[in-house]
Amino acid sequence: MKLDLGPDELLSTTRSVRLRLDLERPLEREVLEDCLRLAQQAPTGGNAQGWSFVVVTDPAKREQLAVWWREVADGYLAARPGGGRIRDGVRHLADNLQRVPAHVIPCISPRTDGKPAAAQAGTWGSIIPAAWSFMLAARSRGLGTVWTTFHLAHEREAAELLGIPYEEVMQVALIPVAYTKGTDFNPAPRRPLGSMVRWDGWDTA
Ligand SMILES: Cc1cc2nc3c(=O)[nH]c(=O)nc-3n(C[C@H](O)[C@H](O)[C@H](O)COP(=O)(O)O)c2cc1C
Repeated sequence: MKLDLGPDELLSTTRSVRLRLDLERPLEREVLEDCLRLAQQAPTGGNAQGWSFVVVTDPAKREQLAVWWREVADGYLAARPGGGRIRDGVRHLADNLQRVPAHVIPCISPRTDGKPAAAQAGTWGSIIPAAWSFMLAARSRGLGTVWTTFHLAHEREAAELLGIPYEEVMQVALIPVAYTKGTDFNPAPRRPLGSMVRWDGWDTA
């Protein structure tokens, strides 16, 4: 299924989807592959293309990833008492991550541990555009995603579970993917543009 979204609508309505993931609807491997093929079109430093996408559909592995994710989410929620939509969404996803049909884990090599900031920028910048392209391609096919980092507190254990060579390969996120319940999403509130754009230098108006 391809949604009829123009580029601006796609860019302004690709939301963090937690509450509206359809946990009952199967997700076809071919659709994920189409999204990943588009992700491969993203740029990388030196065109190194050192990325990998680990797609987890195995129920036992999703269950274990969900245990780690939930443990960190519980701490996050405990530290931020109160209500709100993101909290409801995080709670729901923490309780249901194992039911999301695919967990996509973008990975990049080399690891950035202890590297200078410029080297880190080159590495992170070589995976995040591809991962975001994947999320946009997913949205354009009626799928919902959310960038999450909770499981990274257990990155080494996740690497063991999935056979990822931890010393060489760094996981950067865990992106749950499912069809969405309904396909209408809206632009999100954001601070005024002028509060975050500085022309010709930091201090100039
Ligand atoms: C780097 C990064 C890490 C994030 N980690 C998590 C996470 O671990 N769990 C989670 O539920 N959401 C996570 N999010 C999503 C944000 O909490 C928030 O939902 C998102 O920025 C709102 O996006 P939207 O308003 O465009 O939908 C993360 C987002 C980013 C960019």
